[in-house]
Amino acid sequence: MTEIDTSVPHSARIWNYWLGGKDNYPVDELAGDAYTAVFPGIVTIARSSRAFLGRSIRYLVQEAGVRQFLDVGTGLPTVDNTHEVAQRLAPESRIVYVDNDPLVLAHARALLTSTPQGATAYEDISLFEPEQILRAAAKTLDPTRPTALILSGILGHVADYDAARDIVRRLLAGLPSGSYLSVNDGSRGTDPDYEQAQDAYNETGAVPYFLRPVDQIAAFFEGLDLVDPGVVSVPLWRPEGTAPDPIGQHGGLARKP
Ligand SMILES: C[S@@+](CC[C@H](N)C(=O)[O-])C[C@H]1O[C@@H](n2cnc3c(N)ncnc32)[C@H](O)[C@@H]1O
Repeated sequence: MTEIDTSVPHSARIWNYWLGGKDNYPVDELAGDAYTAVFPGIVTIARSSRAFLGRSIRYLVQEAGVRQFLDVGTGLPTVDNTHEVAQRLAPESRIVYVDNDPLVLAHARALLTSTPQGATAYEDISLFEPEQILRAAAKTLDPTRPTALILSGILGHVADYDAARDIVRRLLAGLPSGSYLSVNDGSRGTDPDYEQAQDAYNETGAVPYFLRPVDQIAAFFEGLDLVDPGVVSVPLWRPEGTAPDPIGQHGGLARKP
């Protein structure tokens, strides 16, 4: 197993810090605090991204009838993980989690447990190996049945935009018609402080994360049928409470025809 590196911040751990979790190290806390000193809105962004994920899974289970989920870039277990939201509504749901962080691996096997009727699996594979991900997922998911591909806060880790598009295309190529894609990522062009804080984070030695213009995030869904309201700032995607304010995290959900 790859050793846990506590000398540079890690995406999964800093995200856990902003979400209010305890599975992080002093280096993550320092980088997280340096970020919020420039752009405090990142805490709302992290929480709104998770809330969007929860709403999109509820839609997938209740409105779209999906029972299989492939969540790549899982992150550290937190409240309302994908399988918990899905299996609460449909206990027979089957979920494959994929990440390449050693701390996520250490926690996931213990915490991402399943209902007896459903299944969960964790695969330690990089996003840059889409065919390997699909092969591993097929051990748990039926490749002939629709699957929701969840890419929540991970595509920004692929520096080259065309490479990110290619990864999405190759993952979707392995899923049948009626499958879905859920993406949400940090967006450029909403707040200069956000961009400044992200640029500084990318200098820390951590795996960098790149904010993208909204039209580039929207283009990940090309060729798919977007669920209303399309690609929007995540709090505006089928909100359940009072009218929320937009933030620099955009996403959507779409069906493969
Ligand atoms: C910002 S966190 C998002 C976590 C979770 N999906 C969420 O929405 O709360 C990004 C996650 O992507 C993972 N990640 C980054 N690069 C990856 C790669 N090449 N392959 C697999 N996972 C990766 C990180 O380890 C981290 O868990």
